Amino acid sequence: MYSRRMFLAAAALSGARATLARPAMIPISGGAAPLGAVPSGTKGLMPYRRTIGRGEAALEVSSIGLGCMGMSFLRGTHPDRKTCVALIRYAVEQGVTLFDTAEAYGPFENESIVGEALEPFRGEIPLTTKIGFEYDGTRYLRENSSEANLRRALEASLRRMRTECLDLVYIHRRDKTRPIEETAALMLAFKKEGKLRRWGLSEVGAGTLRRAHAVFPVTALQSEFGLTWRAPLTNGVMAACAELGVGLVPFGPLGKGFLGGFVNEATVYVDQPMDNRKNFPRYSPENIRASLPFLAALEEFGKARGITVPQLGLAWCLAKAPWVVPIPGTCRLSHLEEDLRAASIALSPEDVAALDRIAEEHPIAGDRYPPSEQARVDEA
Ligand SMILES: NC(=O)c1ccc[n+]([C@@H]2O[C@H](COP(=O)([O-])OP(=O)(O)OC[C@H]3O[C@@H](n4cnc5c(N)ncnc54)[C@H](OP(=O)(O)O)[C@@H]3O)[C@@H](O)[C@H]2O)c1
Repeated sequence: MYSRRMFLAAAALSGARATLARPAMIPISGGAAPLGAVPSGTKGLMPYRRTIGRGEAALEVSSIGLGCMGMSFLRGTHPDRKTCVALIRYAVEQGVTLFDTAEAYGPFENESIVGEALEPFRGEIPLTTKIGFEYDGTRYLRENSSEANLRRALEASLRRMRTECLDLVYIHRRDKTRPIEETAALMLAFKKEGKLRRWGLSEVGAGTLRRAHAVFPVTALQSEFGLTWRAPLTNGVMAACAELGVGLVPFGPLGKGFLGGFVNEATVYVDQPMDNRKNFPRYSPENIRASLPFLAALEEFGKARGITVPQLGLAWCLAKAPWVVPIPGTCRLSHLEEDLRAASIALSPEDVAALDRIAEEHPIAGDRYPPSEQARVDEA
C-alpha cells in the first residue's frame, strides 16, 4: 500500500528534483561595479554618479535620472500633485540628482511640480528643463528659437522652477527655420546673463550637434535610446557624443513602457489626459502583437539572471558608455525602486552583446513616430 508517509517522501524528492532541474542562476555582476562606476557616497539606491559634458560644460549627476513628464503629461492617468512631489523627494533621498521636465509638459504644469519638489534642495540638485516651443495660451503652435520666444520661455521656466539660474537647459526640438549656430549663440548669451549654466539639445543629428558644440560646448543630448531604439549606435549620434564629450541622456529607455510589460495589444491609451502612444505606429495592437516575442526573449534572458526587463533595458544603456544617463519615466514608487536598482547591475560585455543579438533577431514592428512627429526630428 502507498502510505501517506511514502507519498510525502516521494513528493519531497520530486520537489528536490524539480529544484535541481532548474538552471543555476547566472551571476550577473559577481561583485563587479558597472561600467565607469564612480561612487556617489549615497546610502540610497543610487550608489554611482556619472559626468555628462566636458570641461566647463561638465555636470555630475546620478547614473540614472527620473523622467517626470508622465506625472502630468502624456502616459495615461496622472497622480495628484502631492504624490508627485513626494515621489520626486523620495528619489532625491535615494540619491537621484537628475530630474527631467520641460515647458511643454502640461504645458507648464510639470516644471512647477518639479520646481516645488526640488525647492528644499537648492544648490544640491541641478535644475534642468527644456524649452523651444511657441504657444497660443496652452496650445502648442510650433518650434520657435527666436530670441524673444526663448527669452520668454526661460523667464517663465525660472519662475516655475523657483530659481534664478537653471543648471541645464535643452532646446526641446530644433527650429529648422534658423541656423543652429544662432540658437547656440543665444544660449551662450543667456549664460552670460546668468540665466543658465549649461545647455543641451534634443533629437538632433550628429551634424547639428557638432555645429552647435563649436559655438557653445554642449553638456548633453537627449535622444530616444534603449533596447527598443538603438539607432544612435549607428546613425553617428553616439560617435559624435564620444568625440565631443557630450553626455547622452536617453529618453524612452523603456520603450515608452513596452519593456515594463504592462503595454499589450489590448491596452487602451486614455484620451483625457492624452497619451501620445495611441498615435505612434509601434503601439498599434497589431504591431505590439508582432513585437511581443522580443519582450518574451528579454524576459527569458533576465529570468536566468534575476533581473527584470526594465532593469535589463537600463543596465544595457549604462553599459554602452560611461557618459550615458537614462531618464526612465515613472509615477510609481515600486517602479522607481526597480528602475534605480539597475544602476548597480554590471552587465558583462558578453551579456551586452547577447542583448544586442536578441534585439537584432526581434525587430520592433512599426515606425517610432507618425510622419507629423518624425518631421520635427532633426537628422542633419
Ligand atoms: N526630449 C524629448 O523629446 C523627450 C521625449 C519623451 C520623453 N522625454 C523624457 O524622458 C522620460 C522618459 O520617457 P518616456 O516616459 O517616454 O518613456 P520610458 O521611460 O521608456 O517609459 C515610461 C513608461 O514606463 C513605465 N515604467 C517605468 N518603470 C517601469 C517598471 N519598472 N515596470 C513597468 N513599467 C515601468 C511607466 O509607467 P508607470 O508610471 O506606471 O511606472 C511609463 O509609462 C520622460 O519622463 C520625459 O521626461 C523626453
